[in-house]
Amino acid sequence: MIEAEGLVKRYGDAEAVAGVSLAVPAGTVLGVLGPNGAGKTTTVRMLTTLTAPDAGWARVAGHDVVRETGAVRAKIGVTAQDATVDILLTGRQNLTMIGRLSGLRRTDARRLATALLDRFGLADAADRVVKAYSGGMRRRLDLAAGLVIRPPVLFLDEPTTGLDPASRVRMWSVIRELVTDGATVLLTTQYLDEADELADRIVVVDHGRVIAAGTAAELKARTGGARLQVTLADARPEAAAVIGRFATGEVAVSRDGLHLRTPVTTGSGLAGTVVRALDEAGIGVDDVEIRPPSLDDVFFALTGHPAEAPADAPADAPPGESAASDVSAASDTPGAPDAPTDGKGLVTRA
Ligand SMILES: Nc1ncnc2c1ncn2[C@@H]1O[C@H](COP(=O)(O)OP(=O)(O)OP(=O)(O)O)[C@@H](O)[C@H]1O
Ligand SMILES: [Mg+2]
Repeated sequence: MIEAEGLVKRYGDAEAVAGVSLAVPAGTVLGVLGPNGAGKTTTVRMLTTLTAPDAGWARVAGHDVVRETGAVRAKIGVTAQDATVDILLTGRQNLTMIGRLSGLRRTDARRLATALLDRFGLADAADRVVKAYSGGMRRRLDLAAGLVIRPPVLFLDEPTTGLDPASRVRMWSVIRELVTDGATVLLTTQYLDEADELADRIVVVDHGRVIAAGTAAELKARTGGARLQVTLADARPEAAAVIGRFATGEVAVSRDGLHLRTPVTTGSGLAGTVVRALDEAGIGVDDVEIRPPSLDDVFFALTGHPAEAPADAPADAPPGESAASDVSAASDTPGAPDAPTDGKGLVTRA
């Protein structure tokens, strides 16, 4: 339903999109995963006929996005990253207006607006002006606006960025429902867990290029699976070797020597086994954590550099994951300005 080959978009000398190819079979979800500035929105804008590519081609529902813009537009729904609704109108007025503009009769447009407001949990706020909506309500109205006409192909640009955890989960279930009803979806996201939840396949983009593609499981396998993080009671250089026995990749050690991190294959009781091994070596442990890989881990595995942290990370993001804190952590540490770090102040031990 969506296919693109070698899409390029330049702004001045810079290539916002530098040759993106992708394909989305009917009834499936493609996750376009990448950090700020990767070229996700620009790619969506080309696929949805809002801007013309400088090179390459794309077809949506069999129609060329440059030569058949009208036919493409008739098949798609778009949730733009920047709100498309009118904030001076109520939620109901916005949806009714979009229905009217799309050629529905007044009564049909009204009925549809009511149904969508219900579906997105906005019935109580239906007659309030959008200006008074919370950010999460705005995002939901944006998505509803993209569904006034039941388009077979949906483009959702960061549908959950800025939502609280509960609203994200609610949004996920609406998106899943749409796919169950037969929609083909391309969604962009900065979160591996979101792509993992929703996408059949994922393309990872960075600096306008596709740097990896596959299922969530395949991408995670490329990062070496789960992450083991150990916090020591005291810095002990020999701890890296002990942890290395369980590692499927390099063991990263923080500058203060207290935090160690490495990819591992999860097995039952791994955390206990690690604690016992450190204990036998006489090394005191404060904390052991095993967690699934994040976008940051995927990026680091693929590119050797960390993904820039999203400007508005979800409220449940663990502390210390922002690029800003990494920069200050690195610049506060004299003596090793050129040491490779993985974005969390950890130095990779060769
Ligand atoms: N209209 C424009 N004029 C000039 N540069 C632009 C324009 N639109 C995008 N860019 C640049 O192109 C690059 C890709 O931007 P894009 O918005 O596609 O990224 P993104 O992946 O959607 O990022 P985000 O996650 O922040 O939304 C960025 O470097 C951006 O500054
Ligand atoms: Mg964007």
